[in-house]
Amino acid sequence: MQGQAEVDAEPRLREAAKLTLRQPSTIAIDGPAASGKSTIGGLLADLLGYVYLDTGVMYRAVTWAAIARGIAIEDEGRVSLLAEQLKIDVVRPTVDDGRQYTVLADEQDITWEIRYPEVNQGVSPVSTYPGVRAALTAQQRRIGRRGRIVMVGRDIGTVVLPDADLKVYLDATLEERAKRRYREVVARGEPAEFNAVQASVRQRDEIDSRRTLAPLRAAEDAVVINTTPLSVDQVLERVLGLVNGWQAEE
Ligand code: CDP
Repeated sequence: MQGQAEVDAEPRLREAAKLTLRQPSTIAIDGPAASGKSTIGGLLADLLGYVYLDTGVMYRAVTWAAIARGIAIEDEGRVSLLAEQLKIDVVRPTVDDGRQYTVLADEQDITWEIRYPEVNQGVSPVSTYPGVRAALTAQQRRIGRRGRIVMVGRDIGTVVLPDADLKVYLDATLEERAKRRYREVVARGEPAEFNAVQASVRQRDEIDSRRTLAPLRAAEDAVVINTTPLSVDQVLERVLGLVNGWQAEE
């Protein structure tokens, strides 16, 4: 009987191993502001048991640290130096207040500060600086190389991990994205005005798409999903479909 059980188990194990082999190990998710990248990326990483890295957090951390230290956003030299020296850590939530993760800059918890309007205002200009991008891209690649990761940003599929196994680009109309961001801000209990939120999202999109270095765009081999009419569950379902239908290139 024992022998029979072993024989029966074999195809099941083979099947399971095949399934693991078939899963993409590095998953890049890009898209414009408030397109749902962070929500989908976080949920997907949880389901797969992968590491989740939201690279926008790193650009925001540099921007906040510059503001907190009195460095002018326009001071490219000092901001770039700061990006090289700042120790940014994204770790499991240390406080139970609805956060997806805790963000530390030189050991200081700045999880909520990086969402302040002045950071929204400064982050896109900061992200155009080559020195800032070089410093952060190097860190992101180091983390990406370990595999089993969902990395979210603007240039992951194009620049940071051009060899990612699966690339997804999430899009939605400006109005829909502004609505989503507005609801997020209101849910945090912060004062918000819809038109101001929409203007801020539009302005960041413009700077992010027009910059010469690593501009926001879908990689040629990315699967583009228009999320405008879709719920979070529907987007997640589509992305999971891509993960499960993924075939490794020979
Ligand atoms: O969450 P949201 O989509 O509003 O923005 P984010 O992902 O936190 O990114 C904030 C800003 O960082 C973006 O507007 C970009 O200017 C910059 N960024 C970038 O240049 N490259 C990345 N890989 C990620 C973010």
